[in-house]
Amino acid sequence: MKESYYDFGLVGLGVMGRNFILNVADKGFKACGYDLDPEQVKALVSEGGDLSRVNATDDIVKFVTSLQKPRKIMLLVPAGKIVDSVIESLVPHLAKNDIIIDGGNSYFTDTDRRESYLSSEGIHFFGAGVSGGAKGARIGPSIMPGGSQSAYKEVKAIFEAVAADFEGEPCVAYLGPKSAGNYVKMVHNGIEYGLMQLTSEIYDILKRAAGLNNDELHQLYADWNRGRLQSFLVEISSEIFTKKEDGDSEPLIDLILDKAKQKGTGKWTSQNAMDLGIPVPTIDVSVSMREISALKEDRMAAEKLFPKKAPTPIKKEKLSQLAEEALYFSFIITYAQGMHQLSEASKEYGYELDLATIAKIWRAGCIIRAALLEDIAQAYQEEKTLENLLLAASFANKIKSTVGSARELVSYAVTNGIPLPGLSNCLAYFDAYSSGRLPLNLIQAQRDYFGSHTYERLDKEGSFHTEWE
Ligand code: 6PG
Repeated sequence: MKESYYDFGLVGLGVMGRNFILNVADKGFKACGYDLDPEQVKALVSEGGDLSRVNATDDIVKFVTSLQKPRKIMLLVPAGKIVDSVIESLVPHLAKNDIIIDGGNSYFTDTDRRESYLSSEGIHFFGAGVSGGAKGARIGPSIMPGGSQSAYKEVKAIFEAVAADFEGEPCVAYLGPKSAGNYVKMVHNGIEYGLMQLTSEIYDILKRAAGLNNDELHQLYADWNRGRLQSFLVEISSEIFTKKEDGDSEPLIDLILDKAKQKGTGKWTSQNAMDLGIPVPTIDVSVSMREISALKEDRMAAEKLFPKKAPTPIKKEKLSQLAEEALYFSFIITYAQGMHQLSEASKEYGYELDLATIAKIWRAGCIIRAALLEDIAQAYQEEKTLENLLLAASFANKIKSTVGSARELVSYAVTNGIPLPGLSNCLAYFDAYSSGRLPLNLIQAQRDYFGSHTYERLDKEGSFHTEWE
């Protein structure tokens, strides 16, 4: 293996790593992969086809010495302790100013810890969220790098070449210092959880209340994907409804167990929002719904105890129209919550995030890509300090013209015992956020009554306590 030859190194030749390094090689860069598993090494070498473009080894010394300095080494390995052990195995062979990039879904405080450790060794480190799954890694993901800007400059050309492209603009941009990249990816996944929950709720009510079959669902989601709901998740849902496995008598979707799993990134979003005091109720309930779905046996027992009535009849056309508008409304609300979290976290952690840039690099390649992101990017471009999308003039009409259908759909669902926790949460968030007066004055009074926690008044400054009894 030639020394100081390859432009870019990648550790972890699993699904994401193999696809990413092939993408790098396709874009004309010389890339070398490393994995402890010789089978993964062999698979890449044979798929790459030309050792001068893409090579791989299970020998870490050969791997490191094959890279031109300053070495650029990207990790695509599972988040957690594996990242630390890979770093430990690399450090003894690296030189000052070499660069390690963590492309996994690492928790942002782990990235901060790793950066300070590695900078004490003279090595640059930054986290870059990579979104789009295996296909995205192969043909163009959205990449969310943060951390050392000087280090990023060394890989900028490679990242811009491999990233997805939206109308000529690469879906990658330096997002800010420290763990900004991993934090943005985490919130991306929180929004992802929300959008997935909402698309699943709409599928459920269309099926349960109006009896749409899989072909009708396929067609409806495909129609929506040609309009303002154009998005990766609506698009793949349409395809999922009619997918059939060989030998199966019915579409696969109807045979899949309704217990959702989670690797944790959505939960982290929700936990951190709670820590920072930022309301993201739709993301919160999306995590809870995955947990409720896991209680399959309990749900089967409860269904026997509390049998559902047949839903009030409703015409397919009527329900489909309500569903489209309610889904559009709730997509807006979910992005609004995620962007608000990014805005507040940026202040808290000093990330210097530019929300317009983030919306722009999400327009292609990533899981939450959607036509809506163009409008979101424009809203933050027009108003850099926009507190919340709900306060953007350009979104007022979108919301006003669809909130009525969201109300009607949620009312129908509540009346008929069909769970729409995501959609109803979006509605409650909107109604609370647009209420100048909320009944939490009573909570303040209660707190002061039993805990003497004091309260403030509308008509005068200061904190007050009352002897209520
Ligand atoms: C992406 C996805 C990806 C996600 C996994 C599993 O942006 O490509 O968000 O990174 O983490 O698909 O996610 P869950 O197991 O948490 O649903």
